[in-house]
Amino acid sequence: MPEATNRRAYEQVVREKKHLDTPPVWLMRQAGRYLPEYNAIRANHSFLEVCHTPDLAAEVTLQPIRRFGFDASILFSDILVPLQPMGAELTFGKGHGPRIANTIRTAADLEQMKDIEPREALSEVLETVTILRRELPETVSLIGFAGAPFTLATYWIEGGKPDPFANVKRMQYAEPDAFRSLLDRLADMVSDYLIAQVEAGADAVQLFDTWAGILPDREFRQMILPSLQRILSRLREEDIPCTYFVRGSGHLVRSLGETGSDVVSLDWRTPLDEARDILPEGKVIQGNLDPTILLSGDESVIRRETRRVLNEAGDAPHIFNLGHGILPQTPIEAVEILLDEIRGGAR
Ligand code: CP3
Repeated sequence: MPEATNRRAYEQVVREKKHLDTPPVWLMRQAGRYLPEYNAIRANHSFLEVCHTPDLAAEVTLQPIRRFGFDASILFSDILVPLQPMGAELTFGKGHGPRIANTIRTAADLEQMKDIEPREALSEVLETVTILRRELPETVSLIGFAGAPFTLATYWIEGGKPDPFANVKRMQYAEPDAFRSLLDRLADMVSDYLIAQVEAGADAVQLFDTWAGILPDREFRQMILPSLQRILSRLREEDIPCTYFVRGSGHLVRSLGETGSDVVSLDWRTPLDEARDILPEGKVIQGNLDPTILLSGDESVIRRETRRVLNEAGDAPHIFNLGHGILPQTPIEAVEILLDEIRGGAR
């Protein structure tokens, strides 16, 4: 490993499973609408245009690094971007989030789905990664990412925000073979895409499985754990450290320890000390401040809750993060207080 890599706090924790007294910190959705400089770019460019234009995507990724000096930077894109070359008619409208016009709900619908070579079909994302690794400070790790197969499938099956998951569950039970095939094909894309991001310059990756928490543990183990293990074993062959995030995963913690990921990212509802008792020794934990704590802007509350998360992590290898993405209404000062509490004024 080159010496520079050893100096990066984030990689020391995720690769070497070290506990650092000042844990590395970054925030999910750290480039986003709570930043005036992000909104200035979005005033002239649509969300997908930013994702597809390497210079803009790189600029937006760098904004929170310049402002806050986080220990890790996450590529600016979206988990749904790779579904476009696979055939999804994806749009993001004002106020309603993502929509996919051509849903996949049956075996016949699956025929419209194309398998892709990410190095060709997603070359502009990979170019963004290469720009970023060149522009980022040497001490800041670059995290690539993808959506996990189940969460990607929920958006494509429902055609947008999956809640209440009626079509997902119908397909799972009524068309189990088609459902499995959809997950398998997404899993192949995800593995190839993550490996391509690391070839382009990413130092580590994160898999977002936001909606896997809707499944009972039994279904999680039967339906999605094998495909996750397949992705993770391919990443391990390539020596790529990976974090696995699920929202609302308190009932799944034991299974989260079996995917093969280096890091388990928990939301704010799972106490980190309880998760540590269940997870295998040495597993890195990431999380898990409730993002709504930052909304108050109340300094004593933010400091107290940040300290509580640090205490719950104890002497475990720990990456500090929120339990889910930072909210657009978050005041900038709240992030400054959070960082000051974690770093003790050290930086
Ligand atoms: O974390 C980061 O800073 C990296 C960039 C990133 C975005 N989305 C940017 C984004 C990442 C890693 C994601 C992941 C993502 N996207 C997930 C998994 C994690 C999670 O948040 O649960 C999911 C489910 C999506 C799908 C998605 N994208 C939704 C549901 C929405 C709309 C909700 C919203 O916040 O408006 C998006 C849009 C989106 N993705 C924005 C950003 C910054 C807001 C776009 C805007 O500027 O209007």
